Amino acid sequence: MARLSGKTAIVTGASRGIGKAAAERLAREGAGVCLLDMNEEGLTRCYDELSGHGYSLLKVTADVTNREEVDAAFAEAASHFGTVDILVNNAGIIRDNLFFKMTEDDWDTVLNVHLKGTFYCSQAAQNYMVKQSYGRIINISSTSALGNRGQANYATAKAGIQGFTKTLAIELGRYGITVNAIAPGFIETEMTRATAERIGVAFDDFAISRAAEIPVRRSGKPGDIANAVVFFALEDSSFVNGQVLYVAGGPKT
Ligand SMILES: NC(=O)c1ccc[n+]([C@@H]2O[C@H](COP(=O)([O-])OP(=O)(O)OC[C@H]3O[C@@H](n4cnc5c(N)ncnc54)[C@H](O)[C@@H]3O)[C@@H](O)[C@H]2O)c1
Repeated sequence: MARLSGKTAIVTGASRGIGKAAAERLAREGAGVCLLDMNEEGLTRCYDELSGHGYSLLKVTADVTNREEVDAAFAEAASHFGTVDILVNNAGIIRDNLFFKMTEDDWDTVLNVHLKGTFYCSQAAQNYMVKQSYGRIINISSTSALGNRGQANYATAKAGIQGFTKTLAIELGRYGITVNAIAPGFIETEMTRATAERIGVAFDDFAISRAAEIPVRRSGKPGDIANAVVFFALEDSSFVNGQVLYVAGGPKT
């Protein structure tokens, strides 16, 4: 079923993990998808792989913390596809450290990518969305927004994304634009692999121990989040606005 045919999506951080899965699911639903990432090599690999399925895709290399690159990327996507209907603010990084050891650079880098990046991309998107009186902005938060040891920077950024989401929902709803957030729990990606490596635990053991704490007794996969992205992206979801959906196998894991 192509429930998003005729729609155009931009997914940031699309070269791997959750972003790649979201891009794939949106494309499978018929959307034209602009894959945006700062990792040119990863982006090309992802683009080549997904293109093999016959999807309508564009790849643009851009750093979401660079306003000129963001604006140019959105202009390129809009000129290629004709519109920008859906934005998934997914690009993200971690720089975990206990608070007493956290450097100013750890703090600034994480807040910049998650908060400033989401701000730049959403502002670029709303230029197109307000004119066409239609849009779907989907922001990727995290269960870490509720607090997580070693993640003062990341938790702050992910909680900030929730406030940003609700505020934009209030401001942009009158233009046919909905703004929602997804807060994933533990998802198996390169990001969580890096965490396992940092603490010196084999990834499989790490995933098993995390799964034991999750009510559904399994870890999340990128497709679990892509599924929620599609729900918010649908035209039919027009009365769902300003919500944060925890997709974590339980209420708070
Ligand atoms: N994996 C999890 O358990 C988990 C849980 C909660 C939330 N999240 C969030 O989901 C999102 C995706 O996470 P993931 O696990 O797929 O991570 P990942 O590290 O596998 O992928 C992140 C992608 O973002 C890109 N990126 C990073 N900084 C960028 C920048 N400045 N500009 C453009 N692209 C940039 C990277 O190149 C990479 O392709 C992130 O926002 C992350 O915080 C992940």
